[in-house]
Amino acid sequence: MQPSFKEIVEEIVANHHSFLRKELPKISELLEALADDCSPSDALIEAQKLYKKVRSKIETHLKDEETLLFPTGIALESEDVAPVTEMNLLERLHEMEVEHDGCGNALTTLSQMIATLPNKEQTEQVISKIKSVQKDLAIHVEKENTLVHPRFLELFEARSSARCS
Ligand SMILES: [Fe+2]
Ligand SMILES: [Fe+2]
Repeated sequence: MQPSFKEIVEEIVANHHSFLRKELPKISELLEALADDCSPSDALIEAQKLYKKVRSKIETHLKDEETLLFPTGIALESEDVAPVTEMNLLERLHEMEVEHDGCGNALTTLSQMIATLPNKEQTEQVISKIKSVQKDLAIHVEKENTLVHPRFLELFEARSSARCS
């Protein structure tokens, strides 16, 4: 039997969202430690700015999934009342797919920006942490793009056509 929408998103939140919430602050800390150790360089300042943006984008993305997209899909599946929102969920869903690619790419850019910094050992530590986040993010995004989003659209369209008939 196919897992339900609820089962799929609960697994994603328990494994992948919690992983990001644990690991994203560690990258901030490693970048700060690198800044404390290196003489200030433009590359590091730019890398820190980029990471701040990416982290905030990912955190907003997780919040929108956990508070709106996932509960709405669960409510549609169980024919329950969906959370009230002003947000256009179909537009947000499309935007989320763009963010799925964008965040992974931005993390690759971040690794490239710091790769030539003089403090090799600490730089390697940050790059390896970024890689572990990217690895998990790839699995997470694959599940959402191929299981969660198509299923959400199906449920959403079924509810809309039931309203029209
Ligand atoms: Fe997610
Ligand atoms: Fe997502």
